[in-house]
Amino acid sequence: MQVLGIDTSCDDTAAAVTNETFNVLSNVIASQEEHLDFGGVVPELASRAHLRALVPVVQAALERAGTSLAEIDGIAVTHGPGLLGSLLVGVSFAKSLAYATGLPLIGVNHLEGHVWSLLATDATLLSTPFLSLIVSGGHSEIVLVKQFGEYQHLGGTRDDAAGEAFDKVAKMLGLGYPGGPAIEALARDGRAAAAIAGDGHLRFPVARAGRFDLSFSGLKTAVRYHLERHPTPDQAARAEIARAFEDAVVDALLGRVQKAIDDYPVEHVVLCGGVAGNDRLYERFVTELEARERVVLRPPKLMCTDNGAMIAFVGMLHLLSGRRSSLTLGAHATLPELGRGVTSTPSPSASADPAARAK
Ligand code: KG4
Ligand code: ZN
Repeated sequence: MQVLGIDTSCDDTAAAVTNETFNVLSNVIASQEEHLDFGGVVPELASRAHLRALVPVVQAALERAGTSLAEIDGIAVTHGPGLLGSLLVGVSFAKSLAYATGLPLIGVNHLEGHVWSLLATDATLLSTPFLSLIVSGGHSEIVLVKQFGEYQHLGGTRDDAAGEAFDKVAKMLGLGYPGGPAIEALARDGRAAAAIAGDGHLRFPVARAGRFDLSFSGLKTAVRYHLERHPTPDQAARAEIARAFEDAVVDALLGRVQKAIDDYPVEHVVLCGGVAGNDRLYERFVTELEARERVVLRPPKLMCTDNGAMIAFVGMLHLLSGRRSSLTLGAHATLPELGRGVTSTPSPSASADPAARAK
């Protein structure tokens, strides 16, 4: 069995083909360069870029997988959460393709895609409850995953997401978008310099909210105030700011997950979403949580950031359980958080009844 997965939730046009054993047969991602000058994603530009890129990206995904629509068993597409205009491009395309080919359509929650992105390396997770830390440009959530489709939301950010904080601080430091990888590289320089000079004393506070909740907007403000007090920092000073900022984010996330483990003693902790690609974050989690006999896992870096394969995985899981969406599937900028309200997609109008698809 093969599923075509499509994600156009933000600024990457992504399509992939995966099979029932979660092998990634192709994974094509066209990252939009339209936003580079703006320090963030411009929604209108993103929608237009998806329109231009989607057909060639889907064609490339089919070609690289050595397959064709005739051999595909289902079309999975992100239907939320994300930028509405961007989502609409993917959802409309997937619906048209499903209608034209008669293939099942499966609407997928983008965050559920991130949670299961690890299936690319470890499918045994399907049978273990685990703790998922979803850290992306739009979300920072701690979710207890009991099994596919059964989630308990433990905590999340009350304001900015972790990736959003990386992007905003990167902008303040004059780095490009997306800011995460640029801050990580600069922070590495800062850490190396601090190790030689016996320095590295700059600390930024991170507010804690509730038992498992996070807040990053105060951290962003702390960096801004620091820059106001120490304007025009040289390269070494910028590297030290990046290091202190990255350490503060990692400390905050780690502290919350450690608390969650106290209450929910799972063996596996899975990091996912774009920020999970951060090596400092991963290494700190491994060191601290292995000391508590937990196994820390993350997908390959290409699968931490947005991709179509993770959407195809979730589509396949729904398809295997006989669930599909109707052709009335809509795009939603927000969806109920995983583990709160309606959790697992394919969609509110999902039905295993083929007759429902024609409605
Ligand atoms: O999951 P993702 O591709 O898109 C969303 O669903 O939002 O995550 C993108 C976010 C951006 O904010 C980007 O700056 C951040 O992930 N990011 C990183 C790293 N790579 C990407 N943040 C920190 N360190 C990284 N290496
Ligand atoms: Zn994402």
